[in-house]
Amino acid sequence: MKPLLLKGGRIVDPALSLDAVRDLRVRDGKVAEIGEHLDRAADEEVLDARGAVVAPGFIDMHVHLREPGFEEKETIATGTLAAVNGGFTAVACMPNTNPALDDPAVLAALRENVQRNARCRVYPIAAITRGRQGRLPCDYAALAAAGAVAFSDDGDSVEDMQVLREAALRALPLAAPIVDHCLPEEALVARDLQLCGETGKAWHIAHISTAAALQSVAAARSRGIAVTCEVTPHHLTFTDALAETAGAAAKVNPPLRRQSDVDALRRGVRDGTIDVFASDHAPHTAQEKGGDVEHAAPGFSGLEVAVGGYAAALPDLPLSRFVALLATNPARILKIRGGTLALGEPADITVFADRAWTVDPATFASKGKCTPFAGRRLPRKILATIVGGDVRYRAADWET
Ligand code: DOR
Repeated sequence: MKPLLLKGGRIVDPALSLDAVRDLRVRDGKVAEIGEHLDRAADEEVLDARGAVVAPGFIDMHVHLREPGFEEKETIATGTLAAVNGGFTAVACMPNTNPALDDPAVLAALRENVQRNARCRVYPIAAITRGRQGRLPCDYAALAAAGAVAFSDDGDSVEDMQVLREAALRALPLAAPIVDHCLPEEALVARDLQLCGETGKAWHIAHISTAAALQSVAAARSRGIAVTCEVTPHHLTFTDALAETAGAAAKVNPPLRRQSDVDALRRGVRDGTIDVFASDHAPHTAQEKGGDVEHAAPGFSGLEVAVGGYAAALPDLPLSRFVALLATNPARILKIRGGTLALGEPADITVFADRAWTVDPATFASKGKCTPFAGRRLPRKILATIVGGDVRYRAADWET
């Protein structure tokens, strides 16, 4: 791996309170030096980052990589290639696989697969209940020891409040938060907020999509309840009207909502109620997304459009907030390394610029080619994705 010198980029790292044009040196896979004028050492490759933003590597804390069990939809190899192409140096993958990520042995096999095939870092989110059936708790300590960074039954909410309370209490000593999918949203968010307050367990609401749910989160926060939440690019962009024209490409859980919800979510990002941008990358086969809408699978690919989608939805969002939602906050919530360019940290770096491009799903590395963003012009583009000092993605048109 060649040492790197990123020259003249605007380095934006909220964790360091840094927003300034600087050079950044990467050595031995780590951030070695940040300075106003760093001279190139003989062995270094220079990346000309003038006009670009250099940020801590983006982390997508909500993706479906589909392995084990649904390799026809996505694999570790294709999903993590999509991730680096989309600017992500790390992803957290959901447990709605077959078998579910509910057992340390399943996590051990996943880890081996990741070591062999992944292009970015992969942090597993393990199930809350065995087989995601909503009944029997998993062994949270064993799952955390096997690498789980959060617990979620994904796609399915744990319906039985007593089961979820018991899970939260058992998982209380562990760093990994509960990540809950709230369907139907408002009632379950209210219940989760109660459980979060009652148990004191760190709690994160996945893909919040309605104004009312968001308001409950804001109200709970003002009472001191430490809940966090995330929003997807599609819920920040599209309304239910899209279903009339886009059919299955607009089918997703939670569903696309009304314009007033979209407006509230955008406000929630700006005012800090929403902590994280997460794509809910949910690839399916062409067959599963084809045919009639009623039988089509919910969800679509997100990793390769997410960054452009967030920028299009919130063009006026300060860059430090943009980076906080994509790097600083997911690292903090999952309590994983990364999210900062502090000296000595692994050189996980995302380089992007405000350059418009058009979404063409045929170019996706993801096996899932369906997205409601197809054909859209997006204002922000990934120029390079660097994982542990290794340049894993470089835009073809980025001159260096
Ligand atoms: O649309 C969705 N698809 N929402 C989910 O919660 C699950 C996901 C999937 O796994 O396909």
